[in-house]
Amino acid sequence: MAGFNFLLVCKLAAIVATFVPIHAQAQLSPNFYDQLCPAALPTIRDVTSQAVLQQPRIAPALLRLHFHDCFVQGCDGSILLDDTPGFTGEKTALPNLNSVRGFDVVDRIKTAVNAACGGNVVSCADILAVAARDSVNLLGGPNYTVLLGRRDARNASRDEANSRLPPPFFNFTQLLANFESQGLDGKDLIVLSGAHTMGYARCTTFRGRIYNDSNIDPNFADLRKQTCPMSGGDNNTAPLDVATPIRFDTQYFRGLLQFKGLLHSDQELFTGNGAAGDALVRYYSSNTEAFFADFGASMIKMGNLRPLTGANGEIRQNCRRVN
Ligand code: HEM
Ligand SMILES: *[C@@H]1O[C@H](CO)[C@@H](O)[C@H](O)[C@H]1NC(C)=O
Ligand SMILES: *[C@@H]1O[C@H](CO)[C@@H](O)[C@H](O)[C@H]1NC(C)=O
Ligand SMILES: *[C@@H]1O[C@H](CO)[C@@H](O)[C@H](O)[C@H]1NC(C)=O
Ligand SMILES: *[C@@H]1O[C@H](CO)[C@@H](O)[C@H](O)[C@H]1NC(C)=O
Ligand SMILES: *[C@@H]1O[C@H](CO)[C@@H](O)[C@H](O)[C@H]1NC(C)=O
Repeated sequence: MAGFNFLLVCKLAAIVATFVPIHAQAQLSPNFYDQLCPAALPTIRDVTSQAVLQQPRIAPALLRLHFHDCFVQGCDGSILLDDTPGFTGEKTALPNLNSVRGFDVVDRIKTAVNAACGGNVVSCADILAVAARDSVNLLGGPNYTVLLGRRDARNASRDEANSRLPPPFFNFTQLLANFESQGLDGKDLIVLSGAHTMGYARCTTFRGRIYNDSNIDPNFADLRKQTCPMSGGDNNTAPLDVATPIRFDTQYFRGLLQFKGLLHSDQELFTGNGAAGDALVRYYSSNTEAFFADFGASMIKMGNLRPLTGANGEIRQNCRRVN
C-alpha cells in the first residue's frame, strides 16, 4: 500500500495552495445570496431543521444527496431530476436506487425558498450544499461556511452515477483512486468517510463484509448477521456508526479501531498494520476539533467539484425537472 504520510502531504498541499493561484471558472462565494436573497440560508435551515426534528434520519439522507450530486457531473443538482418518458436521470443508477432519500424535503425547501426570495433565485445544487451542512450541524457536527453560486444542470448522467460513485466493496487502493479521479486526496477520503458517523446501510451493502471479511470483530459480525441473513432481508438496515448513528461525532473512527466498520470500504481505511490511513483514523478518533475542522474543509472541497457558474446551466424552478 502506498507509504505516504497524509499529514505531511496535507501540509505541503496547503503551502503550495498558498502560492499557486487557482485557475477555476467563476469562483463560488459565501456571500452569493447576501444581496439576491438574504432570507435564503435561514429558510433552508428552518425547513431542514423541522424535517430533522421530525425524523432525524433525514439528516444523513440530505448529506448523502450532496455527495452523490457532486461526484456525478459535479455539484449541479443532476441527482434531483426525475425520470420522464424521454429522459433517464440518476435516480435509478445502482448506487442510488432504493437508497438515496430526502427528495421530498428538498422539494419543501425549494418551495419555501422561492417564497422567501419572492422568486426563483436559489439553485437546487446550492440547496443541497446548504442542507447538507445544516444536517451535519443539527446532529452535533461543525457549522462550516458553505460556498455558493452553483447553477443547476439541464441534464444528468446515469452512466456517470454508475461509474463514479464508489461501491462499498472497494479496497483502499480503489477508494483512493476514485477520490483522486475527482481531484480529492487521501485525507479527503478518510475525513469525508467520517460522514458515516450518521445514517444507516442496507444489508445488501454489507452482507459480503459480515460473512466473508476477516478484519471484523466476530461479535459484531454475529450481531449484524441476526438482521442480515445470508439470503433475504436485503432492505434491513444497520447503523453505519455502531454507537451513535444519529449523532455527528468521532464514534465512526472509534468503531474502525475496534474493527466494527459496517461496510468493507469503511474498514479498509483502518488496518491496524500501519497502512496509509491508520494514523489519520486514530487521530480523528480522539480529536473532535480536528475532525470537525477538517470535515468542513473537505466538504468545501467536495462542494467545489465542477460547479456550473455564470451563464452555464440554469436556476431550476422545480428541482425535479429542467425549466
Ligand atoms: C468513501 C466511499 C464511500 C462509499 C463506498 C460509501 C458507501 C455507502 C453505502 C453503501 C451506504 C449505504 C447505502 C444503502 O444502504 O443503500 C452509504 C450511506 C451513507 N453515506 Fe456513504 N459512502 C462513501 C462515502 C461517503 C461520503 C463522502 C459521504 C458524505 C460526505 C457519505 C455519506 C453517507 C451517509 C450520510 C449515508 C447514510 C445515508 C442514510 O442513512 O440514508 N458517504 N454510503
Ligand atoms: C426493497 O425496497 C424497495 C423499495 O425501497 C423495493 O422495491 C424492493 O422490492 C425491496 N426489496 C426486498 C428484497 O424486499
Ligand atoms: C450555525 O450557523 C447558523 C447560521 O449560519 C446559525 O443559525 C446556527 O445557530 C449555527 N449553529 C450553531 C450550533 O452554532
Ligand atoms: C450535460 O451538459 C453538460 C453541459 O452542457 C455537458 O458538458 C455534458 O456532456 C452533458 N452530459 C450528458 C450526459 O449529456
Ligand atoms: C484492490 O482491488 C484491485 C481490483 O480488484 C486489485 O487489483 C488490487 O490488487 C487490490 N489491492 C489490494 C491492496 O488489495
Ligand atoms: C463469500 O465469498 C465466497 C467466495 O468468494 C462467495 O462465493 C460468496 O458469495 C461470498 N458471500 C457473500 C455473502 O458475499
